[in-house]
Parts: sequence; C-alpha cells; structure tokens
Amino acid sequence: MADQLELPHQPNRRGSVVQEIARRRRESYHQQQLLQGYREKPTSARVKVAVRCRPFNQREKDRGAKLIIDMNGAMTTIQNPETPNEEPKKFTFDFSYWSHDGYTEKDDGYLEANPGSKYSSQRRVFDDLGQGVLDNAFKGFNCSLFAYGQTGSGKSYSMVGYGNNKGIVPITCDELFKAIEAGDKATKYEVTFSMLEIYNEQVRDLLSKDNPKGGLQVRQNPKLGLFYVVGLKKVAVGSYAEIDKRTQEGTANRTVASTNMNATSSRAHTVVTITFDQISKNEAGEETKKSSVINLVDLAGSERADSTGATGDRLKEGANINKSLSALGNVISALADLSSGGKKKVMVPYRDSVLTKLLQNALGGNSKTVMIAALSPADINYDETLSTLRYADRAKKIKNKAVVNENPLDKLIRELREENEKLKKQMGGAMPVAGGAGMDAADGAYSKEEIERMRKEMEEEIRAQLLANQEQMKDMDESFEDKLKRNREEQEAMGAAQANTQDRKSKDPHLVNLNEDPMLSGVIFHFIEPGEMTIGRKDANPPPMIQLTGLSISKQHAVITFENSEATIKPGEQGAKTKINGVPLTGPTTLQHLDRVLFGSNHMYVFHNPLNPKAPENTPSKIDWDFAQKEIAKHKGFDTASAGMSKEQIIAQEQILELLPMVSEVNAISEELNKHRTFEVILISGAAMEGYGSKKGAKVVVKMKNLLNGNTWLWERGKFMNRRYMIQELYQRHLDGDEDVMKIPKEEDPFWEPPEDVLIGTANVFLQSLSYALDFDDKLSVTDYKGVEEGNLYVNITPCSDKGKPLDEDFFVEDPQELLGKPFHYKVTIKSAEVNKAKYSKGLHVKYKVYQDDDFTSTPVIKATLSPEFKHHRIITYPAVNEDQLGYFEHGCITFQLYGVQEDSVNDNRLMKMTTKELRQMEQLQTPGMQRRQTISEASEESKLRNELDVLRKKFERLEKKEKRIQDLCSEWKSKPAEEQQFEPFWRHVSAVANSSGNKLKTRVEILNTDDLVSVYSFELDPNAKEQIHIANNSPRAKRNGGLGTGSSDSPNVIQAQNKSQEAGGAQNGSNGSINSGAGSKACVIQ
Ligand SMILES: Nc1ncnc2c1ncn2[C@@H]1O[C@H](COP(=O)(O)OP(=O)(O)OP(=O)(O)O)[C@@H](O)[C@H]1O
Ligand SMILES: [Mg+2]
Repeated sequence: MADQLELPHQPNRRGSVVQEIARRRRESYHQQQLLQGYREKPTSARVKVAVRCRPFNQREKDRGAKLIIDMNGAMTTIQNPETPNEEPKKFTFDFSYWSHDGYTEKDDGYLEANPGSKYSSQRRVFDDLGQGVLDNAFKGFNCSLFAYGQTGSGKSYSMVGYGNNKGIVPITCDELFKAIEAGDKATKYEVTFSMLEIYNEQVRDLLSKDNPKGGLQVRQNPKLGLFYVVGLKKVAVGSYAEIDKRTQEGTANRTVASTNMNATSSRAHTVVTITFDQISKNEAGEETKKSSVINLVDLAGSERADSTGATGDRLKEGANINKSLSALGNVISALADLSSGGKKKVMVPYRDSVLTKLLQNALGGNSKTVMIAALSPADINYDETLSTLRYADRAKKIKNKAVVNENPLDKLIRELREENEKLKKQMGGAMPVAGGAGMDAADGAYSKEEIERMRKEMEEEIRAQLLANQEQMKDMDESFEDKLKRNREEQEAMGAAQANTQDRKSKDPHLVNLNEDPMLSGVIFHFIEPGEMTIGRKDANPPPMIQLTGLSISKQHAVITFENSEATIKPGEQGAKTKINGVPLTGPTTLQHLDRVLFGSNHMYVFHNPLNPKAPENTPSKIDWDFAQKEIAKHKGFDTASAGMSKEQIIAQEQILELLPMVSEVNAISEELNKHRTFEVILISGAAMEGYGSKKGAKVVVKMKNLLNGNTWLWERGKFMNRRYMIQELYQRHLDGDEDVMKIPKEEDPFWEPPEDVLIGTANVFLQSLSYALDFDDKLSVTDYKGVEEGNLYVNITPCSDKGKPLDEDFFVEDPQELLGKPFHYKVTIKSAEVNKAKYSKGLHVKYKVYQDDDFTSTPVIKATLSPEFKHHRIITYPAVNEDQLGYFEHGCITFQLYGVQEDSVNDNRLMKMTTKELRQMEQLQTPGMQRRQTISEASEESKLRNELDVLRKKFERLEKKEKRIQDLCSEWKSKPAEEQQFEPFWRHVSAVANSSGNKLKTRVEILNTDDLVSVYSFELDPNAKEQIHIANNSPRAKRNGGLGTGSSDSPNVIQAQNKSQEAGGAQNGSNGSINSGAGSKACVIQ
C-alpha cells in the first residue's frame, strides 16, 4: 500500500520545492479543467430550486398555530405574524409545492390530492424533480439533490418519505431500475450505492458496522481536484429491492450510532451516492463508459445557532455543531456572487468543512443540481422559515457547468495505469528537499520551516494520489458481476435476519426503539425470549443477551422475565437507571403492552406484547417520542397539559421537553467524566432574567451547579445546546481512548465556566404608586425561581423634585392622566438587604433596569456580610411624561435582582473524594424533584395585587387626612357664632386643603349637610365646568342621583367608608368607585 511507502530524501535534487509545488499545482489545475469536462462544451445551468410546505403537526394544531405561508403558481409568500397588516414577503422559485392541506389519506396511508386542490403529493414532486435527475443521469450528467430546512420541516419526508408516502430517493431508484429493464440491451448498466453521514465533522459509513474512531478520512484526489472518502463502502446493486434493503441497513446503523453516542440525528447530514455507469460501443466500435454520480443529500436541521443565544458563549468557536452547514451557506453565497457576475474574484470556501468538500462538484461544478427547501408553515417558525426562503433564493442564482461524462473505456484504463506508473516513479526518488541546491533561489520568500512544511504537504499529496489511483485500479480489476455477487451474498445473510424480524413482530413480545427523529423510530427490535433475558453492557460477565452501549448503561442493567405471556422487569444491579412510563424502576414491575422503557439516558423503547396485547387504559394507540418525553417531564414535576396556555407558555413547554433528555444526558456524561457538575432545567420569569417589565413570559434555562462549592450558573437554551455538543465531542474523544480528555485545560473545558455572580433571587416593585405620585417604601421578599424566599430587600421609590427632594407629603394625583405632558422625577433608593444563606457572604449587589434603560444599574458590591447596606440612589427624570411612560407606571414594575459573588474555590475537601455520581445523589436527596414548583406561570401576580392594595390604602389614607382636615375646618366653622361664619375665608381654606395635591383638582368644596351621621363633601374636578352645588345623601335629590353628587346613578363616584375599622375594605370598594373612575364630579361620603 502506498500508505506504507517511505519517501526517500534526495539531497541533491535540483530546483526548489516552491517551484515544484507551483508546477504541480498548475498541472493539477490543468488536469482538473480537462477532467471536469472543459474538453467538451459544458452545459451551464442554474441550480433548480423547489420549496415545499408541509401540513401542521400535532403540536402546532394543539396550540392553534397560524399559517404564514401561501403559494400561488411559482410564487411563495410568507407573512410576518407580528405585522399582519404588512404586505407578505414574496419569493419565486422553479417549483412551489403546496403540501399543507387539500389531501386525503387513503387506506394504505398514501396522501392523495383532493380533486381540484393545489396539494402536491410525493409523486408530483418526483415527477418534477426525480424524473429530471433520472433523465440527466441517463445522459451521463452528474446530478445532486439537496434537502434544506429546519428540524422537522419535512426534508426527510421529501427525500426518503414515510411508509407508503415514498420520497424522491426511493422512487428515483425504483424508476432507475425500471428504465434499465426497458433500456437498450446492448448496453451494460452498473449501479453502485453508498450511504454516509456527517456528524460533528466526522464521516461515518452507514453501510459498515465498524467505523474507525474519529470517522473516515476525507482526501482530495489531486488529479481530479475532488474530495472523496477513503475506504467508503460502495455496494454493487442490481435492483431497487437491493437498494431498499441497503437503505434500511444504513438507517438501522444510523439509529444505533445515534442512540449509542447520544448524537442528535437531526444534526447529521446524510449523503446517499449512486453511481450509474452505462457501457456501450460507439460508432467506431470503441467501448465507452458514460457515467453519472448521483448525490442525494438530506441536510441537517438548519436552525441558526445565533438565534438560540449561543452568541455570548466564551466557547462558541470551539463547537463543530453547524460547521458544515454554515460552510455550506458560505459556499452558496460565494457561488451566487460569482454567478451573478457582481464580484469577479470570489474565493469559494469548499475546504472549510467536510460537507462542502464532498459536495464541491454538486455545488459549483460538474453537476445538475436541485435543491428542495422544506418550509414549516407555523407562525412561531417565521424567522427560521424566512431564513430558509432567503437561503433558497440565494441558491437559485448559482450556475453549474455540467458535462456529459463519457470516455472510451480503454483510454480511462490506460490513463489510470500511466498515472500510476508516474506516481510510483515520483515516490521512488523525485522528491525535492528543503536545503537542497536551488532552494535559495526561492528568493527567500519562504523560511526553511515553511519549505519543509510544503515538502511534507507535497509528499502527502503524492501519497494520496497514488492511493486514490490504486483504489480505482483495484475497483476496475474486479468485474461488476463479481462485485454484485459478493454484495448479494452479504445481503442474503442480512436479508434472512430482516425477514425474520418482520415475521416475529406480530408473534413474539419485543422492545422497539423510539427516536427523536421519526425516521429512526421503529428501526431496532429486541425480541424477548421466554425465561430470563439480561440487558446490559457487552463487557459484562456473563455477556448480557441484549447488549446496549452508551451513557448510564450498567453492566447488568436490567432483567426481563417472560412467563405465561407476561413480562416482568427489574433492575440488574444497584444504581442502574431505568424508567418505566417515566417512573424510575426500583423493583420488579410488570410490563404491559405499549409500556415505555428508558434504559440509561438515551435508549428508549416501547414494549409490545402480541401474546397479551391489552394496553392499560388511556394509552394512545400510537406512541411517539413526544409522548414518552412528556411523561418523563411530568414525573419530574413539570406541567405538561397545554390546555389554556398562552403561546409563550406552550413554547416554553416545548423547550422543556426538548431540553430534559439533553440535560439528563449531560448529567450522565458529567458522572462518567467525573466533572462534579450537575445540570437542571429551570423556569425563570423573563423579568428575572432580563430585569425589566413583566410582559416576557417564563424562560427556560439550564442551571449548572458545581457540586464541590455550590456555585451555580444559568445558561440560556442556545448556550446550553452549544455546550452540549462540545460535551458530546469530549465524551466521544474519551470513548475513543483520548487520555487528554481527563486533563483538558479549564479554558477549553465545556463544563468549566469562570465564576460569575449568581442570581440569588428577585423582588418586584410595581410602580402604580408613582402614577398617583405616591411613594413606595417597603421590605420586599426576594424569592428564587422556585418561589423560595432567599432574603429581603428594602427599597424606596419616591416621586421627587429634579434634585431628588421628596414631594410635599400631601402631593397627590387623583387621576394618573394628569401627569401627562408634565415633567416628572422619581428616586429609586436601595437601602439594604438581608440574605438567608451564609454562602452569599462573599459579596452582594443588586441590579435593575427601569423603562427605556438599555443597561443595568448596579449597586456596589458589599462584601463580608449578609445584611449589606447599599445606600444606592438614582433619580430618574421624564421631561414630559408620555403615554408609554404612564403605562409603565400603571402596569410595569422594577425587578430588582439580588446577586451573590461566587469564587472558584472548593469549600469542603471531603467532597473532592466523592464521585460526581455520589455527589449528585446527595444533591437529589436534598432537593427531591417532585417538590419543585415547575408550572409555567408567572409568580408575580400576587405581589402585583399586594402593591395595588398598598396604593389603594395610601390613597385612602390621603383622602382620610384631607377629610379630617376639612372636617376640622367645618367643625371650627360650625362652632363659630353665626355672625362670624364668613363663607369666603372658610371656602378658601377648605378649597386649599382639597387642592393640596398640587394639581388642577377641586376648585370648590361644599359641605353638603349638617347632620352628624353622614358628612358629604363634593369636589368639582373640572375647573372650567360650571360651579355646581351638590346635595347631601339624605336629600331627595341625592337619593335620586344614586345618593351622591352629580354623577349618574349607574356610575356612583363614591367612597363609602362606612366604618373606619374597615379601612382596607373601604379602600377596595373605592377602587371600583371614585378613585379609579374617570373625570367628572367626585364625592365622598364619610360617616
Ligand atoms: N409534505 C408532508 N406531508 C405530510 N407530512 C409531512 C410532510 N412533510 C413532513 N411531514 C411530517 O413532518 C414530520 C417531520 O418531517 P421530517 O422528518 O421530514 O423532518 P426533517 O426536516 O427531516 O427534520 P430533521 O431535521 O429533524 O431530520 C414527520 O412526521 C413527517 O411525516
Ligand atoms: Mg430528517
């Protein structure tokens, strides 16, 4: 093998490495041009782009999702749900497939268009796209078909299909063989099939059970300039049935790998490659080969990492999550720029990722390419769907240059042999070497090291070329018939097992897998034999009968006993984690038909018992991944019923269901790598996270806790997802035997985070008091996200002058509208706090934002106390209060966030001796999951009401005070002899008191009665209104007017404080009456 060949140094070689490299590059480029078909005139054609819109899924139906996509002819429109009155955005593509509605499901499950509807069925999509691929393949063009779109948008449905709704790939393969059957008998047809996936920049051969650690290598064939996967299995196939079986095999391998490695399949790209050769004699009697490479690519979900909040992560660059996909985006943009002729010199970054390397030809070279963009129709996917449409719009600009790949067979073989000889010779001695004669002629532009590096690269190149060449020769040496025979034999053995599974499914009890990706569900079967069946890791002794690999799988994980048509399951050893229907398995339990069984953190199965097929009541007939996950979430204390929830709450719930399995997986890795970290999904109010307003619903975040020192961090979903991929990568390296994993420097460790201040809890102050120019002064309780009290905070919010001087005691606004247009100042004072937990004594500070603040205002950090005095003041000024600011006072709040300083220290060395597993168990004992309050609702309602009550009480007190003073004035007046009772000064006095709030209130006050039982005063609100005399409640007119004043009888503007001991009650009554009522006359009745 060329790989083992040593490259001898030739010290006397003349000429420089640099020149040699340049020469080789020129030659290689020339060859590329030649081989990529520039000897014939290439057909320049645009990439064809189709879009397809799927039906709503069950979750979308449940939440009453709105449809935002429409299609008309080739036009697709998308409506921003936030701006329903705006014109929808318009796009045009080669094909727009409406598969959202207008169909009927036939008995066999096939979805068929209703007569007259615009529904596009699978067949229709094939007729346009697949047929084109086939026709081109027969002509000898390379073809590529991509499916792009976010997770769950329908890529796999279009490409592969489900059940009887077969997608483009199987129909195309089927039709290919039909066409071969009907084709020219003098032509020899040769078809091969291969299937690979790219996950985390590693290539896995899906037709092979044993992939090397780290994946298969990707090399460039220097002669063709194209990249290929070294050692990828290509099987010769002679019928559609064979392709179908191989696809099943590939899918099963994918499922096993995704389950064992805890890899999310929607993050993997799947590439099926079919090579199709037609060998026939041309007119000159020469044997020619027309060949076509067909790439069928089901891309990974296109969610943008930045939209999920990973942008702030210090380790963002380290992850390969979306490397291939973002590289694909860059390649498409570069190609679109090139094709539109705008920019002449654009470097197309094919080399940036594995995917773009492998698809170089498909994207910008010798290929007829089709892209199908799958669209999610629901409103909450607006951003992603719009981004898919824009992506597709860019892709349609790309022009490819396809040629017919047809060559005389002899020539191909001859060229290959010649090339082989030439390479061997080069390996035998023609290598230039650094430091040799002529090196200096390289004009000193390169250092010795650089030249040495280039020399190495060149060696590598030649070696790769030779290897590629030899592989090709080996391939040519074996006849297609022999290959076919070999592969059929292999398949026969497999086929027997597949047929056996089909047969046993309806007869024998079995476990069948569930996967997050519906494509990978129902793929793995474990049949349960009578007697005892052991389940566990393959390194157990004795080896278990059902062998599982992966996280949290114990050696002897579980035992299933099957007797008298009944199965019982029990843990195989202590600490083995199994859940039945979401409940941890602790002792023997009977398994019923359709029960859900989760082994470890990722092996999810449904138990089927054809011998006793009676499922417990309320078990749905079809169990999917969502159902099984909801059940687990429910047992962890999360609310899973979606009835009556707002859109935000449903989204939060979906995120919880998405994150929970990931969090348990990361916990399991933490245990295995002994990282002393535990993770938990928590719900936190938007205000607590963002520090302002109460409109934002609950947010789903992941809390990471250091079990050695109790430090905690809150990670947003995007950041957690990002870290999770890095953690998976790390774990995979560990499994691959990389010892560095255990010594990873903390800066690169996804489990490590510099200590950051921890949010101890929040306290809300509603600002309603400000809208009445009242101050707020209170001890607030600081609660954490679970509603547990963590301490108190003393704050004061006072309306004030621009210098911060509190307003007059008596200043009072009766109707907040009166503040509009006027200057207003208020002062936020954070006096002090008391914190319950000693661990927070390292330092405490409070952060908050008020309306229109971009940044947080923070108090200084007070150290070494649990009762810090903050003495923080801030004056906030509105030059002229507007409606929005008033709205903020009336409905908004300030959320004070109390933070504690954390330090990276180990508090207790004894803890270091414990394993992460033990520490986590201890932690769980301290905070049992079921006690958590995990319903999706805002906890602020109560404090809001309390605040409202407080405002009312204060308003009532003010009114009471005024009343008292007016009463005093009145009794003083009354006690005077009649001759001294001068109305003018008395009226002025009373009026001054009534007007004491400093606004345009009350120009007149009238005492309306003289009896002791009830005093009635009337205040005229509108100074421009005609003066009015009000009448006491005991007068006939008062009675006619609903008792009081000039208000109409059906809207009594009244406070009835019948009993002073019922102050609060009186005030509350008032809230329905005078205080909150609009303009007009206001009156008080005071006993
Ligand atoms: N045109 C369609 N008609 C009916 N159902 C569809 C259609 N497209 C998608 N679906 C359904 O939507 C679900 C998700 O589709 P699919 O598995 O194809 O998504 P995907 O884009 O491949 O997602 P992922 O990125 O996770 O692989 C499936 O249950 C599928 O049956
Ligand atoms: Mg898919």
